Amino acid sequence: MEIEVVKFDNLGRGIGYLDNKIIFIPKTVPGDLVKVKIIKNKKNFLIGKITEIIKPSKLRIKAICPLFNTCGGCDLMHISLSEALDYKLNKVNDILKKNKIDYKVLKIVKSKPYNYRYKITLKIQDGIIGYYESNTHQVVPCSYCYLAKEEINQIIPALKKLNILNGEVTIRVNSKGEILLIINSLDKIANISNLIHDFAIVGIIQNAKCLYGEEYFMENIESYLFKISYNSFFQVNEEICAKLFDLIKDNTLFSHNILDLYCGVGSLSIATNKEAKVLGVEIIPNAIKDANFNKKVNKRDNAEFICANTSDVINKITSQYDTIILDPPRNGVSKEVLTKIKEEKISQIIYVSCDANTLGRDLNYLLDTYEIKEFILLDMFPNTEHVESFCVLNLK
Ligand SMILES: C[S@@+](CC[C@H](N)C(=O)[O-])C[C@H]1O[C@@H](n2cnc3c(N)ncnc32)[C@H](O)[C@@H]1O
Repeated sequence: MEIEVVKFDNLGRGIGYLDNKIIFIPKTVPGDLVKVKIIKNKKNFLIGKITEIIKPSKLRIKAICPLFNTCGGCDLMHISLSEALDYKLNKVNDILKKNKIDYKVLKIVKSKPYNYRYKITLKIQDGIIGYYESNTHQVVPCSYCYLAKEEINQIIPALKKLNILNGEVTIRVNSKGEILLIINSLDKIANISNLIHDFAIVGIIQNAKCLYGEEYFMENIESYLFKISYNSFFQVNEEICAKLFDLIKDNTLFSHNILDLYCGVGSLSIATNKEAKVLGVEIIPNAIKDANFNKKVNKRDNAEFICANTSDVINKITSQYDTIILDPPRNGVSKEVLTKIKEEKISQIIYVSCDANTLGRDLNYLLDTYEIKEFILLDMFPNTEHVESFCVLNLK
């Protein structure tokens, strides 16, 4: 059937209507006239797959990646970078409006569009290595990912030699080009020595056990040095990570006592005003070991890091914090934690978020007590629908 795409949804998919029922069609653009096949028929919506573009939208450009139409890794490679930036601003403003927040975000910080990712995870199915196809668990073979750093792309074709039949491989690289390979698979790994000989691999980890080298690498961002273990979180886009550090520093110049919840390897704590005391809280033990190392190597004696669940720690707050940094995973911050922050009347909240939907929900809850001072988007993930938000709130 033929569908005219009228707008984008908040996941970067085109929206059309079929007999008054909404249909979401990945990889389409407003203005497209497309033939689609229905791949999901739910009570309130349909999901379609393009079978033919009858008339392309004026906004449509040719995606640089030949896999774009099938691969689920990218959503917005078929529009220009400036259209994608507008899409992200509109998406976040739309989410704020849905959450009854009267604020318009105007600024988005650009990133280079390709070869920016320092980490990718590839699926392996019956020996085929690649990404899942959109809306399926079927692997699309991929030997070059336009989002990934070149050092990652160089090693992808060689992964076949490991003889993994099923599982997944995460490839992490630092700015020196050193590689950590993290394998989740029950298969016996072959030919490691060839790979080590041919590439700058510093560690290979399979099912949380180190097969070769180290379980971490070091990363230099601006003047900072970080130890990052294989399972510790770190921002995937170096250029934008440096911008984030600058924003953190600029917004903590007058802070004296900072609480950094969801602190990972302590990078945002360490990027704050050097004179301020910081307490970082993180749930992954390796990340806290990294943070304690990073504190020493970056000479932040006034930083302390504890391994705990944020929800357990928040009720034991005794210190008078003037700034709290929240950088939670996609599901955002729990109501219990937000309630405690409101009760404590902490003067400034810096909320860093990779999911605008949960950020919108959390802001809606905070804005009876706080007001938005600054809201900037960071294009951490070009060519995808995702965007990083940096939001500063002041106590009213
Ligand atoms: C988006 S990352 C941010 C890390 C760090 N701020 C950075 O910029 O590198 C979120 C972090 O929260 C941690 N985390 C997830 N749930 C948590 C919880 N309930 N309590 C504490 N930390 C948690 C994750 O392990 C991860 O390191």
